[in-house]
Amino acid sequence: MEEVKDKEKRINIDQEYIEKVYKYIKNDMPVDEFKEKFSLNENELKGILELSRVYGKNIGLKERNGEVVFQKNSQRTQIITKPSLSSDKLIHTELCVVSDTHFGNKNQQLHLLNEVYEEAHRRGIKTVLHCGDLVDGNYPNRPENPRLQFLHGFDEQASYVVDMYPKVKGITTKYILGSHDETHYKNGQATVNEWISRCRKDMVYLGQDYAELEINGVKIAMDHPGGGSAQALSYKPQKRIEILESSYKPKILLIGHYHKTYSFIYRNVRAIDVPCFCVKTQFQQKQGLSNSVGAYFLNIYSDKKGNIQYFEPEEKLFKPSDMWDEAGRDAKKVKKLVIK
Ligand SMILES: [Fe+2]
Ligand SMILES: [Fe+2]
Repeated sequence: MEEVKDKEKRINIDQEYIEKVYKYIKNDMPVDEFKEKFSLNENELKGILELSRVYGKNIGLKERNGEVVFQKNSQRTQIITKPSLSSDKLIHTELCVVSDTHFGNKNQQLHLLNEVYEEAHRRGIKTVLHCGDLVDGNYPNRPENPRLQFLHGFDEQASYVVDMYPKVKGITTKYILGSHDETHYKNGQATVNEWISRCRKDMVYLGQDYAELEINGVKIAMDHPGGGSAQALSYKPQKRIEILESSYKPKILLIGHYHKTYSFIYRNVRAIDVPCFCVKTQFQQKQGLSNSVGAYFLNIYSDKKGNIQYFEPEEKLFKPSDMWDEAGRDAKKVKKLVIK
């Protein structure tokens, strides 16, 4: 009980602090000026930006005349200067990253995933990475489950992905199996992702929970951890990086499952919490968990050895007004996206 009270007190202090900071900061205020005035180092500044997002204030950064300044209501918390190396020595890779589509759930947002694939097509992107939970799964021990879904069981959910997942000429989707997908395996040893790959040549299954791949020599890991979320956005990804450290060190780590959006660099790994394509569920509502809907576009410039010289994670987040939050509307209205 004491512990809960202490935690609540801590949350109140943090929230008040962020409200004060938010009031003090003006748009276009130079970040260096703010850091100097309050004697903050780079990590402390990052902590403030992260907390501002936790409490819905969104203090971001932008570049203005070669100087980094604050920008309120912005999600962008990293400004990286382009490399001095001439671009003909660098390999440019552009990727799109999505996650947690939860097909079969009445809250799915396939129409927004379609928008992302249209955008990927316009940009000439060849690879989309999906970090797991393609389908909503089947939990026999959750009595509320069938009521929240419009597709039940393996056949209905797997067929829906095969039939409805965006099909865009030139784009291959590579994906891992997430915690909800895994329920079909636990129930009857059916690997939904394996079957989707057999039916769709443009969809490639890379493995369960975790997969490594190399694109233009850049090592990328995709991860779908289990378990609950944490208040601080960076906490869980940091723990994942610490585990990875000894075995395989990717340059980029893409994390699904949390339905959150966040990007940061830790121990030289560029980590991204990838948002989802599902409106906040009843479970998240009850637990007070946040939910972000959207995708990332990654601009990567690497050298011949696969070292990243420039990295820009571009967040594409959808606003509540973009979402179809009436349960079942997406399932009824959405049309399959096919670009030939
Ligand atoms: Fe999920
Ligand atoms: Fe999950």
